[in-house]
Amino acid sequence: MRIEGKAFTTIWLGDDAASIHVIDQTRLPHKFEIVTISNVAEAARAIADMQVRGAPLIGVTAAYGVALAMRADPSDGNLDKACAILAATRPTAVNLKWAIESTRRRLSGLPPNERGPVAYAHAAAIADEDVALCEAIGEHGLALIEAAAARKGGERVNILTHCNAGWLATVDWGTATAPIYKAHEKGVPLHVWVDETRPRNQGASLTAWELNQHGVPHTIVIDNAGGHLMQHGDVDLVIVGTDRTTASGDVCNKIGTYLKALAAKDNGVPFYVAAPSPSIDFTMDDGVAETPIETRSPQEITHITGRAADGRIETVCLVPLGSAAHNPAFDVTPARLVTGLITERGVIAASRDALARAFPDRAAKP
Ligand code: MRU
Repeated sequence: MRIEGKAFTTIWLGDDAASIHVIDQTRLPHKFEIVTISNVAEAARAIADMQVRGAPLIGVTAAYGVALAMRADPSDGNLDKACAILAATRPTAVNLKWAIESTRRRLSGLPPNERGPVAYAHAAAIADEDVALCEAIGEHGLALIEAAAARKGGERVNILTHCNAGWLATVDWGTATAPIYKAHEKGVPLHVWVDETRPRNQGASLTAWELNQHGVPHTIVIDNAGGHLMQHGDVDLVIVGTDRTTASGDVCNKIGTYLKALAAKDNGVPFYVAAPSPSIDFTMDDGVAETPIETRSPQEITHITGRAADGRIETVCLVPLGSAAHNPAFDVTPARLVTGLITERGVIAASRDALARAFPDRAAKP
């Protein structure tokens, strides 16, 4: 995608393969900074501190983290250690585990002197595949937006999205935003309601920034506005991303997604989830009971960072001293509230049967 007109992806290899470069997402939208990652500890820190975030990008960064570790020391012991360090960074997005396991499978059994180059090639393949999956999701989701536009006789389609499942969360295109970018490029009139997505404000800081870069009409709303907008006919469809969708179609995504799905159901608004297959966990069934939900620092709730009038970046406290805060970062939307999953293989029902039919290669055999 583009930043100030220049083509960018979120992650790329340094010239010497001794490092990778990423966009520091903790600095956006106020500063555009690139971070260089030279070893597995730095890769793990970038994921844990959310310089890179979003389920697909976390997975790709982890794969490159293993490659950096294999370049330094391709022994079995170091492979185990690198995988363990990366796996401990963030618990919810299944793409992390998926990418680490896939890389480990590719490397184990290889003689140590082959592991470095193979690990880099594997990470690059995961990154390329991510771009292809997102683009395919874009094409399938485009048809949904075009159908909504046709229903409205060419009037603009209002799409609500939560958090950032945009190109910053992937290598390119995004998942939830891919259909939006495709439709915008094709001239379909649309407008995006961007949930601010407290506490880290990935919607207000990242999704709005991306859409701005691409000239996509959008408006930031507070997280609690969605139900009101839907009651007044101002939302034609909801499209969100996912960190982990279970074999039965339950969808884990950024905290607050569930409430949007409830409001959508109550108001007859279609609620779609853009779900690339690496975000589907076929080993898990009941999303509410089984998904490991990340709890992040209370400081993300009690403090907020922004740009002051003089351009300085400042962090201020929002709450009375001594008040406790609790910060679960994700929630689970049960499959019954999901209109459809936009996968790389088409739009399917959020159900065990539909998922097994679409992904017979991944689903567990009965
Ligand atoms: O905590 P984050 O910013 O990593 O959460 C991101 C989300 O919840 C996204 O919606 C999800 O990862 C899908 S990204 C295509």
